[in-house]
Amino acid sequence: MRIDLSGKAVLVTGASRGIGVAIARGMAGAGARVAVHYGRGREAAETLAAELGQGAEPFGADLADADACGRLWADVERGFGRIDVLVNNAGVAVGSPLDVPDQQWAADWDRTLAVNLRATALLSRAAIGHFQANGGGRIVTVASRAAFRGDAPDYLAYAASKAGQVALTRSVARAYGRDGITAFVVAPGFTRTEMAQEFIDRYGPDVALRDNALGRFTEPEDIAPAVVFLASGLADHATGTTIDINAASYVR
Ligand SMILES: NC(=O)c1ccc[n+]([C@@H]2O[C@H](COP(=O)([O-])OP(=O)(O)OC[C@H]3O[C@@H](n4cnc5c(N)ncnc54)[C@H](OP(=O)(O)O)[C@@H]3O)[C@@H](O)[C@H]2O)c1
Repeated sequence: MRIDLSGKAVLVTGASRGIGVAIARGMAGAGARVAVHYGRGREAAETLAAELGQGAEPFGADLADADACGRLWADVERGFGRIDVLVNNAGVAVGSPLDVPDQQWAADWDRTLAVNLRATALLSRAAIGHFQANGGGRIVTVASRAAFRGDAPDYLAYAASKAGQVALTRSVARAYGRDGITAFVVAPGFTRTEMAQEFIDRYGPDVALRDNALGRFTEPEDIAPAVVFLASGLADHATGTTIDINAASYVR
């Protein structure tokens, strides 16, 4: 069996750092042309696109802005023509204790839902329209263990946004399979990135490895292969499903 994405175009959101970088490298390694999306990390995305080659290009968009999500898809479509795979990877984990002022708590929820869930929905909607017009395509969304297990007290919005991504993916899979569209979730546990570091700073170093059966941190490179596999078409009859990658820290 060989995974071959040559001739395919893939948009990876949040590919300026963390898990998105590993996914972009994995996609390019399988032969794909990659649209390297970034929010603030323009330089990093430009550097990565140059490293990947094969026509990879950086595309900037603040996914907290609904209009920018539509523009991002249109920009990639204009640049690449056909897009075959959307990877919804970008995300934020906004720590928001219950005792912050009401307005702050509401603002933290708004930001979390906008970036993690609404942007996933807006990009998926754009992808569905494009895929329907072009004979199909695949969507892989990077959610989290938190969608199923729940999360720590300061991350209620994060867990809710990730559960929303799972429900969205399942609905897309059920609704659009006959249009040749498949949709999947990859649900990481703690993975060594800046996002995890923020959590560790808040809850202490033990929290990341306490439940990890392998006794070593999951790295972005441990997540990327599953995303590439799902994007390849080899798993289309698993549409709607979730692959958990959490070192048995939460076995469903
Ligand atoms: N690390 C973990 O332990 C873990 C566990 C479970 C699930 N996940 C999920 O895995 C995905 C990737 O996380 P990560 O750990 O790689 O996080 P990260 O290192 O913090 O990177 C986050 C990425 O998302 C982008 N991003 C954030 N806010 C954005 C915005 N408003 N507009 C555009 N882009 C934005 C960032 O782009 P810029 O830097 O360019 O702004 C960056 O590329 C997320 O969906 C996360 O929820 C992570």
